[in-house]
Amino acid sequence: AEKWVFMVTAQTPTNIAVIKYWGKRDEVRILPVNDSISVTLDPDHLCTVTTVSVSPAFDRDRMWLNGKEISLSGSRYQNCLREIRSRAGDVEDKEKGIKIVKKDWEKLNLHIASHNNFPTAAGLASSAAGFACLVFSLAKLMNVDEDLSHLSAIARQGSGSACRSLFGGFVKWKMGSREDGSDSVAVQLEDEKHWHELVIIIAVVSSQQKETSSTSGMRESVETSLLLQHRAKEVVPKRVLQMEEAIKNRDFASLTQLSCADSNQFHAVCLDTSPPIFYMNDTSHRIISLVEKWNRSEGTPQVAYTFDAGPNAVLIARNRKVAVQLLQGLLYYFPPKSDTDMRSYVVGDTSILK
Ligand code: PMV
Repeated sequence: AEKWVFMVTAQTPTNIAVIKYWGKRDEVRILPVNDSISVTLDPDHLCTVTTVSVSPAFDRDRMWLNGKEISLSGSRYQNCLREIRSRAGDVEDKEKGIKIVKKDWEKLNLHIASHNNFPTAAGLASSAAGFACLVFSLAKLMNVDEDLSHLSAIARQGSGSACRSLFGGFVKWKMGSREDGSDSVAVQLEDEKHWHELVIIIAVVSSQQKETSSTSGMRESVETSLLLQHRAKEVVPKRVLQMEEAIKNRDFASLTQLSCADSNQFHAVCLDTSPPIFYMNDTSHRIISLVEKWNRSEGTPQVAYTFDAGPNAVLIARNRKVAVQLLQGLLYYFPPKSDTDMRSYVVGDTSILK
């Protein structure tokens, strides 16, 4: 008796912000200084797969990330686990003879195994997919009866950007105004079918872990950058409205103008931080120049770019045909060094994941 294991597996894609989140007004609850907007990637490409299991045989909560055991003692994991456990419901599997009632979840321990199919902490929003997947799979395991926006507020306490990965398509994270963070949630603006012509290409400039984590980078920017104050108060509120319009109308020229400007302003805030933070490198800058020149020569924008807390370029092509031309351009300007890795062709110091 009592030898059973009950488990759930979920797969969650990462998301890329086109209007960036940078700066917290509350570091514990993870409440941002501005709204942000993102696009969620296709679940088969950059994603996290997480299996959560529960058994009376487990003597404590444990977690493995990419096969290596990691500590769950940090407040981010503890907050997510506590919030989910407090909402757990009854679970019954008659076939296996498993019956768990609400109060059992406090005593039962969990084993969590999570895998990213892309480099962790390289500015590819691995924590976004990771915490979204953790919260979603635990909610399923424990039969939590809450909608995705409520779950997003829990994922947010693991990693801010994670709240946006609970939805597909275009997603807005509303900063909210309540002190307890209950209205700082993600909402879907449009689903994944709305603008399905877009193709997102990620040029992996470096898969090294970033030097400055987003947590400490944001803290330093909030403490020292006047540009961040101006951005959060005066710039982002207007940009968010314009971006919502652009998405609704599938207006690629506006999407490009807004997302490039917002990425550049985010990196300008990093430079305005003391000491300055450099996330982009020479290759990133060369990619920006290439895209800017191309868009100008075509007359109308073909490709948008955005860079997170790392040197990798996220490129949004207006359609498949443009995406093919873009890949050809990248391969031409950043020629391959080796052809051993077929999944992410290594080209110069840039590899392309798609
Ligand atoms: O959620 P975090 O702490 O990984 O921060 C993400 C910050 C950016 O990726 C740079 C911007 C964003 O909105 O995703």
